[in-house]
Amino acid sequence: MKVIICKNKKEGANKAALLVAEQIKKKNNLVLGLATGQTMIPFYKELIKTNKRIDFLKVKTFNLDEWCGVDHNNKNSLKSFMDKYFFSKLNISRENINFLNGKSKNIKKECERYEKETNGIDLQILGIGINGHIGFNEPGTPFNSLTNKIKITKEIRELYSKEFGGFNKVPKYGLTIGIKTIMRSKKIILLAFGKSKADAVAKSLNNKSNKKIPASILQKHKDVTFILDKKAASKLE
Ligand code: F6R
Repeated sequence: MKVIICKNKKEGANKAALLVAEQIKKKNNLVLGLATGQTMIPFYKELIKTNKRIDFLKVKTFNLDEWCGVDHNNKNSLKSFMDKYFFSKLNISRENINFLNGKSKNIKKECERYEKETNGIDLQILGIGINGHIGFNEPGTPFNSLTNKIKITKEIRELYSKEFGGFNKVPKYGLTIGIKTIMRSKKIILLAFGKSKADAVAKSLNNKSNKKIPASILQKHKDVTFILDKKAASKLE
């Protein structure tokens, strides 16, 4: 496990983007697991800059999660987030972009399909929730969970209430690749910036791995790098 502490989020985002670019340079058809959220915005901005010298055409992407019941064309879908901040800005092939379909009529089958297809992620990018979640894997999720439908905690739904135009409009469920699914990625980079993430980061790294803090499972992965800014790292021992 590597922990890199950067001066600020711009430096952290840049560091992460350079690490990803290096992997794509080594393997032009890299299978890349991606996340959404505020932390990812500066990271995608930096990664897009590397597209001047790194070709993304053969890179295959799998996003971690999607809101249940939300169409990909909806402005609040995680797919729309990705289009806005990343996919529309670089030369990636549309057919190489993969997502869970939150509107699927058969959620069980949809999760099984994704579970199979995500077998072979070379590099998984993760953010971390203020409660230690990774993807939509909320505290208490068993460490052996596979791609599944999950109940989103009130705490996390509150964070999205502005975006959805009110707390009650935020979906109660999400689809997410599982913790076991994340752990089979060959390489993992977790990004966390800002004071609000300091507790979650500290609980993930200071304490023994336990399912109350989903990200603490990462201690057991053989190739994981945490890229933090000083504020997110402020409670590390
Ligand atoms: C979303 C995802 C989530 C976020 C986490 C942090 O695809 O994987 O686990 O990474 O909720 O979100 P922000 O960056 O908005 O604090």
